[in-house]
Amino acid sequence: MATIKFIQHDGNTIDVQADNGTSVMNAAIDNMVAGIDADCGGECSCATCHVIVDDAWMSKVGTPTAQEESMLDLNPDREANSRLSCQLTVTDDLNGLVVNLPEFQY
Ligand code: FES
Repeated sequence: MATIKFIQHDGNTIDVQADNGTSVMNAAIDNMVAGIDADCGGECSCATCHVIVDDAWMSKVGTPTAQEESMLDLNPDREANSRLSCQLTVTDDLNGLVVNLPEFQY
């Protein structure tokens, strides 16, 4: 179990509890966090689950796969810390993870 903090584009923060093994995307969907659409259901093929990981957590989330990289490259709003939240698996190590939600997903 981990707490994930979602920071929406207006500064509103939402803390959700997520079970280990679920994705950060599913943690958002299960808790109706606005700003995560997840149109493909977690298949790494839509990029509507884009999040920007807080600097302090970049070393914990690992690196994107080639498929995730290719999807991120299609996103004009990609930033250095951009990730697809469906590709981030919740573990104890991610307890306290902070991610920012891009404005264009609202
Ligand atoms: S939910 Fe579609 S890429 Fe993540």
